[in-house]
Amino acid sequence: MNTKLSRNQDLLARSLRSVWHPCTQMKHHEQMPLVPIERGDGMWLIDFDGNRYLDAVSSWWVNLFGHANPRINAALTDQLGRLEHVILAGFTHEPVVQLSERLSALTGLSHSFFASDGASAVEIALKMSFQFWKNSGRPEKQGFVSLKNGYHGETMGALSVTDVPLFRDTYATLLRQSTQLPSPDWRDARPGESAEDVAIRAAGALEAYLAANHAQTAALIAEPLVQAAGGMAMHHPRFLRDARALCDRHGVHLIADEIAVGFGRTGSFLACEQAGIRPDFVCLSKGITGGYLPLSVTMTTNEIYRAFYHEEMARGFLHSHSYTGNALACRAALAVLDIFEQDDVIAANLDKAAQLSIRCRKIAQHPRVRQFRNTGMIWAFEVATNDPLFPRKFYCSALDRGLLLRPLGNTVYFMPPYIIKEEHMDMLVEGTCAILDDVD
Ligand SMILES: Cc1ncc(COP(=O)(O)O)c(C=O)c1O
Repeated sequence: MNTKLSRNQDLLARSLRSVWHPCTQMKHHEQMPLVPIERGDGMWLIDFDGNRYLDAVSSWWVNLFGHANPRINAALTDQLGRLEHVILAGFTHEPVVQLSERLSALTGLSHSFFASDGASAVEIALKMSFQFWKNSGRPEKQGFVSLKNGYHGETMGALSVTDVPLFRDTYATLLRQSTQLPSPDWRDARPGESAEDVAIRAAGALEAYLAANHAQTAALIAEPLVQAAGGMAMHHPRFLRDARALCDRHGVHLIADEIAVGFGRTGSFLACEQAGIRPDFVCLSKGITGGYLPLSVTMTTNEIYRAFYHEEMARGFLHSHSYTGNALACRAALAVLDIFEQDDVIAANLDKAAQLSIRCRKIAQHPRVRQFRNTGMIWAFEVATNDPLFPRKFYCSALDRGLLLRPLGNTVYFMPPYIIKEEHMDMLVEGTCAILDDVD
């Protein structure tokens, strides 16, 4: 008997018996096997049989510098011998302070509030905005505005400002009412309109809404430049510039949800930099630890921080998570920031993005492909097919070719770790074209 094969099969069976997997209709695993991963190595995920999968989606967009990265491993090993975790209420530690200082220098936002996942960072931003207005004598400013097709996570507050029907509809009656305004998605261009025109049109809708409703509105929350989970919808930075000006004019906070797009994903450290704006809140997670440990942060301005600073306990931000500011996670994040600096990652990614974009011309010209698009280290396109099973079939065909790709509906995207090399790019593009050739 091949014992390695049996370890693959054994883990699959045990996982199906005991683990409820995320974002999954578990019954589909009757036909579509789970992939048991034994170890990771750079761009690769490897099963017990030695089958290798190129992680072209950075394991849900978190992995920046490859699996089992020696530099992050070394930092964590060192940290393990010092301090794994300490309650952050009443206590502090070196990694959380250093991380807050370095993130402030990178974002221009003075204070960092930590949690463990993206949805929690969004909850925190929404609650902070709401409480800022309450503490400032404007308790009527309670409303939140977000964009159509936006995604901000799946806890109840985050889902209230999310507009992806598949995730939202089941729970709609549980959610707090909020308003969704037109997205600046350039695919919505009318004949003769540029991406910037679409952005201006979307900003016009925001202007009309805020003019009428600013007195009751606490904040606008948006994903800068790329609405990721909603189908990698991309927009012109003009929308963010106009949104910043409108929020300023009407006294409404701007929350930049950079959970998917921050940490260099769109070509700058924060996507907001490309619009030359500073939001009132920025939410970061995913790439923050290079895909090692759960960590998120909500950053804000000194002005907002000061509105909570008071003798009275109840005016403080009384929100907490047990693992807030976990020392290991913060140390992994510091190692990630070191790599950004030492390897000049933002500049290096410009070259990598150009190399992959050249190869992707072949995909853009494929007869099945529509609306090919790219921002920084994200590439996406629609596949013209009426097959309702397309996403699952594409995913399985990709695995057969050693590629981890997970379409969002008919949208196929690449969001690879930044360590991608030319040979990986060739494999990714050639494999994708071959799968597209077989689409019904
Ligand atoms: C823009 C955005 N916001 C929030 C979230 C939620 O993050 P998490 O899955 O860590 O809760 C995601 C996750 O994909 C995201 O892409």
